[in-house]
Amino acid sequence: MANLKTTYMGLKLKNPIIVGSSGLTNSVENIIEIAKEGAGAVVLKSLFEEQINQVANHTFNQGEFNNYYPEAQDYIQNYSTENDVATYLNLIKDCKASVDIPIIASINCMSDNEWVSFAKKIESAGADALELNIFVLPSDPNKSSSDNEKVYFDIIEDVKKIVNIPIALKLSYYFSGLAKTLEMLSWTGIKSLVLFNRFFSPDIDIDKMEIKSSNVFSSPAEIVISLRWVAMLSDIVKCDIAASTGVHDGEAVIKQLLVGAKVVQIASVLYKKGFKEIPIMLKEISDWMIENSFDEIDDFRGRMSLKNSNNPAAYERVQFMKYFSGIE
Ligand SMILES: Cc1cc2nc3c(=O)[nH]c(=O)nc-3n(C[C@H](O)[C@H](O)[C@H](O)COP(=O)(O)O)c2cc1C
Repeated sequence: MANLKTTYMGLKLKNPIIVGSSGLTNSVENIIEIAKEGAGAVVLKSLFEEQINQVANHTFNQGEFNNYYPEAQDYIQNYSTENDVATYLNLIKDCKASVDIPIIASINCMSDNEWVSFAKKIESAGADALELNIFVLPSDPNKSSSDNEKVYFDIIEDVKKIVNIPIALKLSYYFSGLAKTLEMLSWTGIKSLVLFNRFFSPDIDIDKMEIKSSNVFSSPAEIVISLRWVAMLSDIVKCDIAASTGVHDGEAVIKQLLVGAKVVQIASVLYKKGFKEIPIMLKEISDWMIENSFDEIDDFRGRMSLKNSNNPAAYERVQFMKYFSGIE
């Protein structure tokens, strides 16, 4: 095997494949298997700000507490929240005790309110880093782009005051000035940008005339969005980049490293094919490195970023032309 070691957010990884946050990273049994199959690190399932609230409300609405005094509501809601968080903290502790790869905790958040104090507990439980999964859908016409962007900066500022472990920011590409916003976010002291999350998207069932979920899992073709933006941003941002969405094989990992990603995160491919795909992908990377006489990842990382590419215009081109597509 070639030397696949890398660093990410200052953490030492034995290779650049990180298993991304998902239902697959919600149990210590799975994390043990993921480590055994050779992943470089893992991001635990997100603790959802929304989920915490829902659990709290659900407990209260179940009926048995309805005759209690209003103060009971506060107690029950706090208890539910604490309970949910306790389970998550135990997951972190159990993972740290069971595997030797870095454990990155994850919080899904849309505001900088009370959940921020949980971040300290996550750090104390032993998480090696914290990924903030933030998505503000810019759908409110009364809000300007800077109103929406402010949410990201406010959350980072507050969390940074509370924890010392490295912070990653996972987001979408729904920004009006994507390059400038990501550059400015990279100046806030975060250690990584995860480009990009793939969110639930509604689709329509025309027989039932109902809204349904579009594909939950990505396809390999979906790599192209993050590939372009990692290529264009890896020379600009002042932090690491983790490429996410559409990475389904070793070739896709190599592409993302070539455009400047520090690591990749994978989820859908593992849902479709199982954890055994991790060593297969690692071997594909290693074989390619040996074939191309690369001793280590830094020998080729970023060679095809916008700055280093021999055809930078291709990343900025948006209209199809016969020359590139081969189709009139
Ligand atoms: C079933 C499922 C659950 C997910 N849950 C989370 C989550 O809790 N937090 C998060 O940040 N991303 C979550 N993701 C997104 C993945 O981490 C990943 O960013 C996305 O699926 C794109 O990567 P992929 O193409 O390798 O699947 C989830 C994805 C799937 C398929």
